[in-house]
Amino acid sequence: MIESDKKFILIVDDSSTNLSVLSQALKTAGYKVRVAADGESALAMLEKCAIDPAKNPFPELILLDVQMPGIDGFETCSRIKENQVTKTIPVIFMTALADAESKIKGLSLGAVDYITKPFEQDEVIARVNIHWRLKQLTDNLEQQVTQRTCALQQAQVQVVQQEKLSALGQLVAGVAHEINNPLSFMVSNIAPAKEYLAEITEVLSLYQKHYPEPPSDIAIKIKDIDLEFVIEDFSHLLNSMQIGTERIKDISLSLRNFARSDGDIPSAIDLQETLDSTLLLLKHRLKNQGSRPDIEVIQNYGELPPIKCYPGPMNQVFMNLLANAIDAVEDAWEKDHRPLRITISTEVLRESAMVRIADNGLGMTDEIQQHLFEPLFTTKAVGKGTGLGLSIARQIVTDKHCGKLFCKSIAGAGKGTEFAIELPI
Ligand SMILES: Nc1ncnc2c1ncn2[C@@H]1O[C@H](COP(=O)(O)OP(=O)(O)OP(=O)(O)O)[C@@H](O)[C@H]1O
Ligand SMILES: [Mg+2]
Repeated sequence: MIESDKKFILIVDDSSTNLSVLSQALKTAGYKVRVAADGESALAMLEKCAIDPAKNPFPELILLDVQMPGIDGFETCSRIKENQVTKTIPVIFMTALADAESKIKGLSLGAVDYITKPFEQDEVIARVNIHWRLKQLTDNLEQQVTQRTCALQQAQVQVVQQEKLSALGQLVAGVAHEINNPLSFMVSNIAPAKEYLAEITEVLSLYQKHYPEPPSDIAIKIKDIDLEFVIEDFSHLLNSMQIGTERIKDISLSLRNFARSDGDIPSAIDLQETLDSTLLLLKHRLKNQGSRPDIEVIQNYGELPPIKCYPGPMNQVFMNLLANAIDAVEDAWEKDHRPLRITISTEVLRESAMVRIADNGLGMTDEIQQHLFEPLFTTKAVGKGTGLGLSIARQIVTDKHCGKLFCKSIAGAGKGTEFAIELPI
């Protein structure tokens, strides 16, 4: 018996006896049958199917007589094969023309089989069964190829993206490393510079004490440059240079942490430090941008033990979630000028470390939430988002860390979105 009751066979023959005998046999074998008495009406029937295949499904197979009034079977077959939508329907010729030349002609027109009349009913059914099955397998295969190609393309995009990130990571780590050398000259020279300044200042005040009446050109110069101010300001300059170099040191350290390649060895890290490093790298985006004020970041850090994880990829997760939160609050500010706020909290909850990143943006509709983690899903403008951030983040959290990544979001209500990362301790 045939598995599907929808599949049907089209028989095209001008002999009503043939039509009724074959129809009966095929129906008994479980097929649905439609008939046409000549080539033209068969083609007309197929055209109708093309207009609305849901209402008039295409036949799965066509049994085609050759000698018919009007256009013959060969011509009918070649028109079926020329048409893009009907060319994949298998055609079996059934004809009294038993000479080799006709058989070759029939098969070369694209028919899958050639049965000569008078036919054995059982043989026809057996051949129809085989070709019906082959058609199912071909359709199935084509569907699978399409699905696999699609999956492969997505995987490829991910691989390319990850390679890019890893190349970028190496570059960043290299730059951070190169900055470190000149930076350490500055850091280590500021302290002696301060000492020298103190000593020179002392010498100058000794001079002033012992020679309170300097020669006039020295007195003029002292007045010109406002020596007292210069001495006082000099130490301020050195202090701010010290603060600046400390900041560069922090950024360089964050960059190296962020880009760190860990191979396959996880290490126990302080997640709060990792969050702070990522925030430091995003500082330029958190600051006011002229058109909008600063984004306030509230850090509700609870006690967390060191967590075993891959620091580089985990940085990437925080970076993707924070970047999304920044985009979300920026969008919301553009819409209703609400205060821009991102809240990061950490806590231990039932044997797991929880990190939550929440924003007070516009939230997401249920529809968006259903597709959120799919690779390449984005609602952002071309060039602004690739739609890979969350799919990569989820892969890192679930596959690499056996953790979970949840999203809670309410569209419109001013509640915004919260992403929660759960990592086993
Ligand atoms: N905090 C959030 N608030 C509102 N919508 C969000 C938030 N985070 C993600 N989304 C939605 O989920 C979609 C997918 O996010 P995802 O990070 O995967 O890609 P993207 O941000 O669009 O691009 P990118 O690859 O640059 O990260 C976003 O386009 C956005 O519609
Ligand atoms: Mg993103």
